[in-house]
Amino acid sequence: MVALNGLDLKIEKGETVCLIGTSGSGKTTALKMVNRLIEPTTGEVVVDSRSVSDADIVALRRSIGYVIQRGGLFPHMTVSGNVGLLCRLEGWEKEETAKRVNELLELVDLPPKEFADRMPSELSGGQQQRVSIARALAFDPEIILMDEPFGALDPITKTELHKEFLELKSELHKTTLLVTHDLAEAFKLGDRIVLLHKGKQIQTGTVEDFLERPESDFVQHFVGSQLDQ
Ligand SMILES: Nc1ncnc2c1ncn2[C@@H]1O[C@H](COP(=O)(O)OP(=O)(O)OP(=O)(O)O)[C@@H](O)[C@H]1O
Ligand SMILES: [Mg+2]
Repeated sequence: MVALNGLDLKIEKGETVCLIGTSGSGKTTALKMVNRLIEPTTGEVVVDSRSVSDADIVALRRSIGYVIQRGGLFPHMTVSGNVGLLCRLEGWEKEETAKRVNELLELVDLPPKEFADRMPSELSGGQQQRVSIARALAFDPEIILMDEPFGALDPITKTELHKEFLELKSELHKTTLLVTHDLAEAFKLGDRIVLLHKGKQIQTGTVEDFLERPESDFVQHFVGSQLDQ
């Protein structure tokens, strides 16, 4: 079975590209090929003019933040334990890690005094997503991969996190590849959008391209049905 076939995409520095498509269309696969959690059978992924297959895998993953689908927080670790995990693995001093954790929690609007010592189960869904975003930002990576970071949230929380995402975006200028199956979200957050279907790249472009220049009936239908909801 082929999970993804013929994806051709160049992401500019500082750009946010949203990958959208139905379940099983290859979005997570595309994301995981960037940090080599999945190796493509053919083709090449290039980051900063260098093929990722030549890169040192530890250095590569350190330079790319990754927000895992469904958050991926460790349930037995506190919020600060989760956020500081990568720093501890790197062998940072305790105080240095604690300082970074506090900065990151402030950045995602979770006051450390209130949240640092809580367990993930003591957080709302939106707060858990914030923690996984904070964790992905630990080493201040230039590039961030986000797999449905705002999935499964109520509309109010989602809107709030969208706002925060856009604020962080204008503050930090990260190059971001974000997976979603919500077209309204892709339109709101993405500088460009890539529509995948059954492992194929169907259309790539801006909101205007999708609304005014759909490249096929499929795209027109997809856009129409999603925006109707
Ligand atoms: N480890 C795996 N082994 C075999 N097939 C897999 C594996 N992971 C994913 N697939 C298949 O590859 C295809 C693409 O999967 P992928 O996880 O990229 O989809 P997705 O677009 O992220 O879907 P969702 O929206 O449900 O997360 C699917 O058909 C899936 O069943
Ligand atoms: Mg997925």
